[in-house]
Amino acid sequence: MSTVEAESPAELFSLAGRVALVTGASSGLGTEFADALASAGASLLLVARRKQQLDEQAEQLRQRWGATVTTHALDITEREAVAAAWPELSAEAGGVDILVNNAGISVTGRAETQWPGAWDDSLAVNLTAAFQLSLLAAEGMRASGRGGRIINVSSIFGSLGSSLFRLAAYSASKGGLTNLTRQLAVEWAGDGITVNAIAPAWFPSEMTGGSTAKESVVDRMSRGCPMNRMGRAGELRTACLFLASPASSYVTGSVIPVDGGYAAW
Ligand SMILES: NC(=O)c1ccc[n+]([C@@H]2O[C@H](COP(=O)([O-])OP(=O)(O)OC[C@H]3O[C@@H](n4cnc5c(N)ncnc54)[C@H](OP(=O)(O)O)[C@@H]3O)[C@@H](O)[C@H]2O)c1
Repeated sequence: MSTVEAESPAELFSLAGRVALVTGASSGLGTEFADALASAGASLLLVARRKQQLDEQAEQLRQRWGATVTTHALDITEREAVAAAWPELSAEAGGVDILVNNAGISVTGRAETQWPGAWDDSLAVNLTAAFQLSLLAAEGMRASGRGGRIINVSSIFGSLGSSLFRLAAYSASKGGLTNLTRQLAVEWAGDGITVNAIAPAWFPSEMTGGSTAKESVVDRMSRGCPMNRMGRAGELRTACLFLASPASSYVTGSVIPVDGGYAAW
């Protein structure tokens, strides 16, 4: 359904009958994205390496929203395993209409120390796996005739450098993901597939937990932001819902900052 056919806000944001795959759904922002999509009626495929966390998350979604949820323990950097798992995983769910490339890692340390390990690992998870999954999902989206939505979870550091942490590999991988978003949007617009990104500033999660345990770091993160605070749990839901739903039928190639104005100055 497109925006013009939808008559009410409920219809504009409805994902009834849609199937969404969220990577990195075992913790952090991925759990929030999965919850937001389930709340709008989507069926969910949850992907990450930690099966137990995925199963716990799935059970919560079933209880909270009555959602249909399956879980898949997969290391998304293992290309052959991903390619081998995809046909069954997608067919079982009846196709994937929405792909949220959320899984990510962040390794800090001087640029000189990031070669080659942190560099290879960061690009493998944050960029290469997202590209492979996008290719697999897009094939099914074309075949279904329904088109689809791809949402890449990038970062403010996809277009900015960080003065607080040394993030060479992370920034490069997110910069790649941000511009891959634009290129795929251009190439796949004619197939009815929209490709957009969300660029968050700092939010509480396992990834940021080590840093946000220190008051002085939270203080510096906040001072870098016009709203003078980190993001809060729940504040990324609507960007994801918007990009997944009929409400954004004419939006593609965009990068939506959810950052309290961080990238505005
Ligand atoms: N939190 C922030 O402030 C912030 C800001 C900007 C952007 N982001 C982005 O948001 C996304 C989610 O991060 P988060 O903050 O929620 O961190 P998180 O809690 O550490 O979550 C990362 C997720 O990625 C999964 N993952 C990592 N490597 C994987 C692999 N090889 N295969 C499959 N899954 C893998 C992890 O699951 P397993 O360990 O179970 O595999 C986990 O579910 C990331 O892309 C991150 O760059 C976060």
